[in-house]
Amino acid sequence: MPMEDHATAVLRWDESAEGAPKLVLLDQTRLPAEEVELVCKDVSDLVAAIRALSVRGAPLLGVTGGYGVALAAALGEDVAEAADRLASSRPTAVNLASGVRRVERAYRAAVGGGAGDEQAAAAALAEAKALHGEDAAASTRMAHLGRELLGELLPGRRLRLLTHCNTGRLVSGGRGTAFAVVSAVHDAGDLERLWVDETRPLLQGSRLTAYEAEREGMPYSVLADSAAGSLFAAGQVDAVLIGADRIAVDGSVANKVGSYPLAVLARHHGVPFLVVAPVTTVDGATENGRDIVVEQRPAGEVTQISSPSQPAGIAVGGGSVRLAPNGAEAYNPAFDVTPPHLVTAIVTEAGVVSPVTRETVAGLCSPSRTR
Ligand code: MRU
Repeated sequence: MPMEDHATAVLRWDESAEGAPKLVLLDQTRLPAEEVELVCKDVSDLVAAIRALSVRGAPLLGVTGGYGVALAAALGEDVAEAADRLASSRPTAVNLASGVRRVERAYRAAVGGGAGDEQAAAAALAEAKALHGEDAAASTRMAHLGRELLGELLPGRRLRLLTHCNTGRLVSGGRGTAFAVVSAVHDAGDLERLWVDETRPLLQGSRLTAYEAEREGMPYSVLADSAAGSLFAAGQVDAVLIGADRIAVDGSVANKVGSYPLAVLARHHGVPFLVVAPVTTVDGATENGRDIVVEQRPAGEVTQISSPSQPAGIAVGGGSVRLAPNGAEAYNPAFDVTPPHLVTAIVTEAGVVSPVTRETVAGLCSPSRTR
């Protein structure tokens, strides 16, 4: 399975055991304290895992959604209803809906072609596996193109790269998106330091990206998100690399909340701001940034944090510690939208888009690439 460096696969289809197939996930809410598998026995389990962020990150959500449809088909669940539930379980990452719909189409085509239940389920599973493999291949290509681009923009030096949220093996069939580029730079011996934004409130940076950086032996430092400004001011950032959850036709980029302030800082300090994402993240059906639906998450993610006895870091409820008075309201968007003029380039497996404009992005969203 992908994620071969990890003892536990990020995601695997399990039909080895007696009985019905299952989808087994590495529970990302438990990292970095422990690598624990979460077994999803049906689509309801999977929808709950997606909502809880046990599985997360745009490309992996697409792959997971695809396997979810295959699971529904294998279990004899109502595939159309299951696909709708999966596709709407989180609203912003377009990969989720597109992965779900792609596998649903394969299933329907098999049924339309006269396949029986078992054959149609096999067709759905084959499509989900194909999507998984394509995501790994896209990751390899993006890593190559991103490293090449950094070499052109910042020739002949070791790099200090700043990243936000988590974009490595934990979000992909391969090495990830932005983090895959960082890995390629590191493999070449050109990484001076990876600056890892902790990524409040759910700490995908400090819990997950630092975990991945540690495993790859990178030189890295975790910083509070609000420390990024002083880092730029000190001239310590050569480039910013982030992933994306949805890219609109005009080139607006939705990514983890806190990405937009980094883009503003990068522009102010004359630092390249690079977005690395597979073409499945470009949404031909979303015209501009205003049309991107930004997921709003529960207030408790901001007003509470789990106690040391719950090292998962993001679980709230029993054992959690209050960070704000009882009854405090919270503003907790999961993502923000960076306008295209602040993005130096978008690196996809199909090529690098720069400058980022409606015209250049249009080349990435042919009708077959829209949902
Ligand atoms: O809420 P999350 O953890 O699913 O958010 C993930 C991100 O914002 C990632 O940066 C994005 O999906 C790109 S991953 C390649």
